[in-house]
Amino acid sequence: MQNIYILGIESSCDDTSASILCNNHMLSNVIANQAVHTEFGGVVPELASRAHQQNIIPVIDTALKKAGINKKELNAIAFTRGPGLLGSLLVGTSFAKAFSLGLEIPIVEIDHMQGHILSHFIQNEEGNKLIPEFPFLCLTVSGGHTQIVLIRDYFEMEVIGQTIDDAAGEAFDKIAKIMSLPYPGGPFVDKFAKEGNPLAFTFPKPSIQGLDFSFSGLKTSFLYFLRDRLKEDADFIEKHKADLCASIQYSIISVLMDKLTKAVKKTGIKQVAIAGGVSANSGLRNAILKMQENSGWTVFIPEFQFTTDNAAMIAIAGYFKYQRGEFAGQSAIPYSRGASKQKK
Ligand code: KG4
Ligand code: ZN
Repeated sequence: MQNIYILGIESSCDDTSASILCNNHMLSNVIANQAVHTEFGGVVPELASRAHQQNIIPVIDTALKKAGINKKELNAIAFTRGPGLLGSLLVGTSFAKAFSLGLEIPIVEIDHMQGHILSHFIQNEEGNKLIPEFPFLCLTVSGGHTQIVLIRDYFEMEVIGQTIDDAAGEAFDKIAKIMSLPYPGGPFVDKFAKEGNPLAFTFPKPSIQGLDFSFSGLKTSFLYFLRDRLKEDADFIEKHKADLCASIQYSIISVLMDKLTKAVKKTGIKQVAIAGGVSANSGLRNAILKMQENSGWTVFIPEFQFTTDNAAMIAIAGYFKYQRGEFAGQSAIPYSRGASKQKK
């Protein structure tokens, strides 16, 4: 069988990433994080697109060098078309188009959220990694999305539950901001939570019907709780940082796990994956592993490098589309929102 080399490009938010895959094996995955946003406590779209513009060529060049291949060996270029920040997506999309014209190879457009899910299909070097079989469920939790997706085939995905307000990662980040932790706050909450008691403080659970999620109430009750405590003790956050992080993390994970359990019961599907930035969270990883031990689920937990945004997930999705001959035209333009694109 002839080897297929795919270049994946991811530029939907604030990470510029390029990855080379040989079939379903990863040869390189280079990610340039943008430090420029830290002082603003969030991503500044205008600065993000400028940083992508600066990073994209060196990142792709490094990905090719690390993979040890020449650009002329590439079979196709896969790029994130959406959802994400338009100015950021335009950089990756335009670069992919220009590069494909120069190399005379096709381009493949990828939905970012489908990429997160399909990262589970990147095989390890030994070729012995357990890969999900269809159908399976995936809890896709990132800074912009929180979804439960039923995956029937590589590109046959149905969103069966989603957030009606904030995403889980957004909830982590906003809560961290309230505690004056750096941006993005999710990894800091996770770090401090390891030293704390998850039952030290309780926060009201949102009561949303069905498989949908809501996190804005949790964030507000955390804010009011702290406002009251800070009136009595100005050092409350500093003194109780670990317990606060552990308790709020526990609350977020409980919401996620309750809905995921409901989805398993409703669909009868016990193969369950997690994906997206929040799937790096140690509490969530432990909670889903427990379901494997206690409830007979077969769970799929991504390697850390495939949790937050990366181009390897775009390249693997590109590999599957390449095999189907599904190529994009030069007129393909980015989209900022795209839950409907999940259904194909
Ligand atoms: O998938 P991702 O890199 O970007 C989007 O597509 O949004 O996800 C980023 C999100 C951020 O909100 C970040 O705080 C969160 O993932 N995150 C975490 C952890 N690592 C990243 N949240 C909780 N615990 C973590 N360890
Ligand atoms: Zn993402």
